[in-house]
Amino acid sequence: MSQTPSPLLCLGATSLIGGALWALPDRPRLIGVSRRPPPEGVAPGDRWINADLGDPAPLPVREVETALGLAPIWVVAPAVDRLARAGITRIVAFSSTSRWTKARSADDAEREIADRLARSEDAFITACDRAGIGWTLLRPTLIYREGQDGNVSRLAGLARRFGVIPLAGTGAGLRQPVHAQDLARGALAVLDHPVTRGRAYDLPGGETLSYRAMVERVFEGMGRRPVVLSVPPQLWRAGFAVAGRFLPGANAQMGARMEADLTFDSGPAQRDFNWRPRDFRPRFPA
Ligand SMILES: NC(=O)c1ccc[n+]([C@@H]2O[C@H](COP(=O)([O-])OP(=O)(O)OC[C@H]3O[C@@H](n4cnc5c(N)ncnc54)[C@H](OP(=O)(O)O)[C@@H]3O)[C@@H](O)[C@H]2O)c1
Repeated sequence: MSQTPSPLLCLGATSLIGGALWALPDRPRLIGVSRRPPPEGVAPGDRWINADLGDPAPLPVREVETALGLAPIWVVAPAVDRLARAGITRIVAFSSTSRWTKARSADDAEREIADRLARSEDAFITACDRAGIGWTLLRPTLIYREGQDGNVSRLAGLARRFGVIPLAGTGAGLRQPVHAQDLARGALAVLDHPVTRGRAYDLPGGETLSYRAMVERVFEGMGRRPVVLSVPPQLWRAGFAVAGRFLPGANAQMGARMEADLTFDSGPAQRDFNWRPRDFRPRFPA
């Protein structure tokens, strides 16, 4: 008789990827960790642990070997020693391609994010190696999940509210938005491929398209004709102080980046765990 596989410990269970993972019809049993109460949909066989990962108290788990780190890597890295003591021997954790894209930003806060990601990745790897935990790092690009995220869904909200989306310049910079559900499935696929142990992967979405085309797809996903307003970059910068709070990304530096290509190679992930994410065709209520 086959044994029931042990559940996966899901750190950051309420994150975008966590929400998509819990909603998968064919997912394994999960033990969610969050500072918040359990959401709807915690099935019999799942568990929910209310815990702060920054708290040094032991995690109340037994006979669980595998953890998914869906919280920020700077939250997961300091928890690795506690996870090892709880019996975890394998972790798949998420970082971000912002490690690369924000490293040369003109904005101090953005460079600090890139630096924090880099330091936290290093700390995560060192702690896992020291504890004998098999690790994999996944770095998504821009994550979306219709109605849930603060990027693409915010663009849809803007289109619904104002009927128009402004762009800094032509919006020619290339993007590769990635769906949270593809990332949830990707993390599970990593666990089936031992070659991924001790490796880090950039995880772009299935389609590379300009920022402008991405915005047009958002309109199309609402069944609307795209209305895009091209604003000269200097005007964007000046106008940001007034209109910035309505705009996705919420910093002036984003305007400069709309002309820049932020693209990554999915080849290593395709090769090692069959990474095949969807094209960018989001659907939103009109
Ligand atoms: N959003 C993006 O576009 C994007 C792009 C690239 C990479 N990423 C990475 O992908 C992952 C998921 O991103 P996300 O935007 O969905 O989530 P997020 O906002 O970065 O993370 C929020 C999650 O972390 C948990 N968390 C934070 N501090 C915690 C603590 N002290 N103790 C316990 N849990 C804690 C939160 O749980 P509770 O609040 O429920 O406790 C929540 O589930 C993250 O690693 C993120 O850095 C995100």
